[in-house]
Amino acid sequence: MLILAIETSCDDTAIAVLKVTGAKAKPDLVVLSNTISSQVKLHSKYGGVYPTLAAREHEKNLPKVLKKSLKDAGLKSPADVDIIAVTSGPGLSVALWRGINFAKELAKKYDKPLVPTNHIEGHIYSNWLRPVAVKSKLQITYLRRGFGRQANYKKDGGQKMFPALCLIVSGGHTELTLMSGHGKYKLVGRTRDDAAGEAFDKIARILGLGYPGGPAISATAEKFKILNLKFKIPTLPRPMIYSKDYDFSFSGLKTAVLYLVKGQNEKNKTKKLSPALKTAIAAEAQQAIIDVLVYKTLKAAKEFKAKSIMLSGGVSANKLLRETLKKEAAKIKTPVSIPEMEYTTDNAAMIAMAAYQSYKLKAISYKLDDIEADANWELV
Ligand code: KG4
Ligand code: ZN
Repeated sequence: MLILAIETSCDDTAIAVLKVTGAKAKPDLVVLSNTISSQVKLHSKYGGVYPTLAAREHEKNLPKVLKKSLKDAGLKSPADVDIIAVTSGPGLSVALWRGINFAKELAKKYDKPLVPTNHIEGHIYSNWLRPVAVKSKLQITYLRRGFGRQANYKKDGGQKMFPALCLIVSGGHTELTLMSGHGKYKLVGRTRDDAAGEAFDKIARILGLGYPGGPAISATAEKFKILNLKFKIPTLPRPMIYSKDYDFSFSGLKTAVLYLVKGQNEKNKTKKLSPALKTAIAAEAQQAIIDVLVYKTLKAAKEFKAKSIMLSGGVSANKLLRETLKKEAAKIKTPVSIPEMEYTTDNAAMIAMAAYQSYKLKAISYKLDDIEADANWELV
């Protein structure tokens, strides 16, 4: 079975082809193509994503991305695939609609089933896309020719990994969700204001580090570690870290950084932070976000007796978060699953994977007219 997936929920126009063979319980998966056209440069001057601009770019990019994705997969036309999947929420409504309309046109023209897919579920299922050991010469040639990365359906042996506590951290979402089985979710906590990725982006903007903020802050914080700078800057708050629930709040942290920067500038009688001070604040802000995320995730994992912890979303690309979560979870002997780097930020391979899973579980055929963008679609 070949699945063509389309993702336009934010500022990445992404199309992927996933090949699924073998038995339903233990399928073999190969990501034949994973094409992404990023709009980062365009949005960086606004310090965030500008929805109507994103939608216009999706419209322009979709045919080109489709062409490239099919070519990378060694396919001639969408007629060669079995299913089309499209992200229909959550995300920016205008951006989602561009992908949905494009997918509907393809589904109609080539008479294929269309599967509306949840973006968050996609992030969770990025954890199932694993490289496998290359075995044969033929496989090596195949990979060298650029046809696909291998992906490996996690042989979870049924229920061993469930319930899994999922920490989904992206630019638009910060959620703790308990996954009791494939397609079964219960929301445990979420952010009350800014998402973790949004906090990274806003703090980076205050520090003048550019967009997207996550990679910029992480690289700046790394310099602080390497230079081994000794700066006495006040500790930033860890918002809601000891609250009784599993909710998050990051907007106060952003405000605290703003005041810290102002205070430092007044103290040093300057209008601009010194590069060294900037690295120190970036490191402290990153640490504050990670401390809260990891503390609450582990607390929830213990309370809900999770058999595993699953990280996902753009912020899961953060090296320190990956390392800290693994280290802390090891103390309570809970395995942690972290997506491959290329599947951390928005991509369509994860959408294909989630669509395959939900198609297999629900086997529903959707009427094209019923498929709509749902900007706030919640996983249940
Ligand atoms: O999942 P994603 O690509 O898009 C959404 O669904 O929102 O996540 C994008 C977010 C951005 O806020 C970006 O700053 C953050 O992921 N991000 C990171 C890193 N790489 C991307 N945050 C922290 N550290 C990183 N290395
Ligand atoms: Zn995302």
